[in-house]
Amino acid sequence: MIVLGIETSCDETAAALVEETGDAARPWRLKSSVVASQVAIHREWGGVVPELSARQHIRDICGVVERTLLDGGQARYDGVAVTTGPGLVGSLLVGVAFAKSLAWASRVPLIPVHHLAGHVESLVLEGGEMPLPAIVLIVSGGHTSLYVVRAPGSLELIGRTRDDAAGEAYDKVAKLLGLGYPGGPVIDQLAVEGSDRAVNFPKTRLTHADRNAPGIPGRRDFSFSGLKTAVLRYVTARREALGLGTLGRLPDQEIRDICASFQRVVVEVLLDRLFEAARSYDARSVGIAGGVSANSRLRADARTRGESRGIPVFIPSLALSTDNAAMIAAAGLRAFRAGTTAGWDLNANAALKLGGPVAG
Ligand code: KG4
Ligand code: ZN
Repeated sequence: MIVLGIETSCDETAAALVEETGDAARPWRLKSSVVASQVAIHREWGGVVPELSARQHIRDICGVVERTLLDGGQARYDGVAVTTGPGLVGSLLVGVAFAKSLAWASRVPLIPVHHLAGHVESLVLEGGEMPLPAIVLIVSGGHTSLYVVRAPGSLELIGRTRDDAAGEAYDKVAKLLGLGYPGGPVIDQLAVEGSDRAVNFPKTRLTHADRNAPGIPGRRDFSFSGLKTAVLRYVTARREALGLGTLGRLPDQEIRDICASFQRVVVEVLLDRLFEAARSYDARSVGIAGGVSANSRLRADARTRGESRGIPVFIPSLALSTDNAAMIAAAGLRAFRAGTTAGWDLNANAALKLGGPVAG
């Protein structure tokens, strides 16, 4: 079986063809994957503009799907999988409407996919089935969530951010340093030449005893807004001390040091939570997916911690870290094999939930 995946939840228009292999250990084979990024359009505005995003998806989707079929060397597919949420509703609707029309015209099943289930499937697509139970961290511009996977394709939420997502913190810190959008890749690059101990930014550790935001016992929540505010305070104080005015650019080496110090805290918080959860759930593997999993320090430190604890670490290649449709096609194949298809009344759901009673 071959599934065509379509992803338009945010600022990438993507399509991909994924085939079943018949091998239970490595179930999916990627045939082709095309991503049209809108980053250049949104950069000018310092973030994703929903209306511009939806309009650009409409312009790009036909060409992206056509190129995917050409690259895959065939026009045949046995199902169409599409992201139905969470994401920007206008953007999601473009993909959902397109997928419906295509599935209807081609007389193949329509398969709804949760965006985060897609990110998790990117790990299996490249690395094969994860030894279970597994702990998976999804870390992107919109999400920072921790799941336990006890059976293939079944995700149980065990922690999430109470405020900003980690990618959002990267984007906001980059903005206040005057580094442009998106912030993750720029900070990652500048941090390489900075000292990660130059500034001692705080680590926020939430527990269920946290008075301001009571949690659920056993949950491992994250919080990044305090860190972002600490960076803002530090930058404001340095600008004042150097007489640079409110938006003045700090010296290059200071910017590198701030990036490295901020990144050290983010990576430590994420990996502390991930590996703590792995220990308490007796996990046989851990995984990291989503846009921030492209971060060079997060990737390197996760591998080092995994090696020292003897636990395999699954991280997608850079191409599959950020949004793509290969992960949606693979998750669609899994959903179809589990009996999930949608009717022609399928709708987008901007706040689609996953993994239990609390939103991911
Ligand atoms: O998964 P994704 O493409 O879209 C969402 O579903 O949000 O993630 C985009 C996010 C952005 O916040 C971006 O700054 C961040 O991922 N990102 C990174 C890196 N590359 C992308 N963050 C840290 N380091 C990177 N190298
Ligand atoms: Zn994503």
